[in-house]
Amino acid sequence: MSISDVLPSTWQVADGRARVGDVDLQDLAVEMGTPVYVVDEAHVRDRMAAFRRAFGPEVVLAFAAKSFFCWAMARLVAEHGWWADVVSLGEATTALSGGVPPDHLLLHGNYKTTEELALAVEPGVGRVVIDHPSEIPQLAELVSPSGTEVEVLLRLNVDVGARTHPKILTSGAEVHFGMELEAATAALGLLEAAGGQLRLQGIHTHIGSQITDPETYRLVVEPIADFVAEHRAAFPEPVELNLGGGMAVPYLRHDPVLHPADYAAAITPAVAQATARIGPVRLMLEPGRAVVANAGLTLYRIGVRKDVAAGAPFLAVDGGISDNIRPALYGAQYEVVLPARMDDAHESPFRVVGRHCEPSDVLASDARLPADAGPGELLAVPVTGAYSFVMASRYNLVPRPAVVMVAGGEARMVVPREEGLP
Ligand code: LLP
Repeated sequence: MSISDVLPSTWQVADGRARVGDVDLQDLAVEMGTPVYVVDEAHVRDRMAAFRRAFGPEVVLAFAAKSFFCWAMARLVAEHGWWADVVSLGEATTALSGGVPPDHLLLHGNYKTTEELALAVEPGVGRVVIDHPSEIPQLAELVSPSGTEVEVLLRLNVDVGARTHPKILTSGAEVHFGMELEAATAALGLLEAAGGQLRLQGIHTHIGSQITDPETYRLVVEPIADFVAEHRAAFPEPVELNLGGGMAVPYLRHDPVLHPADYAAAITPAVAQATARIGPVRLMLEPGRAVVANAGLTLYRIGVRKDVAAGAPFLAVDGGISDNIRPALYGAQYEVVLPARMDDAHESPFRVVGRHCEPSDVLASDARLPADAGPGELLAVPVTGAYSFVMASRYNLVPRPAVVMVAGGEARMVVPREEGLP
């Protein structure tokens, strides 16, 4: 367990200066400005390959676009033959423009607009994940004039008490995603009534995020297999079993490091057991964070150092809650380093804060940095590849940062810094 466990895989240090994708971070910050999200393309590719190796060629891997998405990411998804799990017209359009074929889109959402549901007809998505029974007549009405057939999954809300932060738990009685078993039974009736145009393929469930115990996935397969067994005639063969995403990543150097193979070791035998009961199963997964989180980091410029009577000094950087809401929203904790001073001991306590008018704008409450860290220096927060850029806001009308992908010594700005005022 060391800081390198949380850093992008191509992170290297030469003469005290950090490089990612063989690009010097100090040079990148000068050229592209700060704050800036940096994404290690090789790391993303490696993670996609690791999922494929761990689960094999037959499993459908759909990247959860909500975790990090832009045209360049959509290109990588398409290139690796992955599907994209999308929840909005914006995500779907980005996926298509990056070359993801329409039949590799999984359309999610507990509130799909008519425009979004219409994607099932034109261009015709791979799967629509039905979140609640009332979507069925809505979808049936949309598809009936064209005669289009749509392949659907039912999203079940299976309560397995997944242990994670309550705000990123997506199953159980407190959660508004998916259907309880009774509603799912009603949905089967509605699908039958809708005629043959809505073709049920299987079941979807997503138990939550940052699931550090792979065995949790095993727990969810059993009730799903029970449901399928009870209504076997309603499902085709093979029946699709989509277990969602949620694979955990390390944020801090002492966090457990889990690999796709660790999840495969729990999920593959569970699926084999289900197969013994309900016949052939086609496994689908939707990882997001586990693909991109550790590939990314955010570079900031320190502007202010405030030494105070009580507690560690504050360092204020040129971003904060607007580019990373996770500390404020989930109490998420991050490591912090000075990428141009990696040979200096990072041992003195600091509190790294943002520039926003918000007391909870604290990026790292227990940072360790060189004792003389101060204004003008570059500061990096690793593990911001997932759920930072996509959750960014314009709080205080601060523009959203650029996204830069680095690979083979080149830095490409794949999303420009936001411009203009509302
Ligand atoms: N599939 C479904 C249906 C989901 O709802 C999610 C995440 C995923 C897949 C991908 O989960 P992942 O593999 O990335 O954990 N904003 C929160 C996370 C919310 C996740 C919502 N759903 C955060 O920053 O931690």
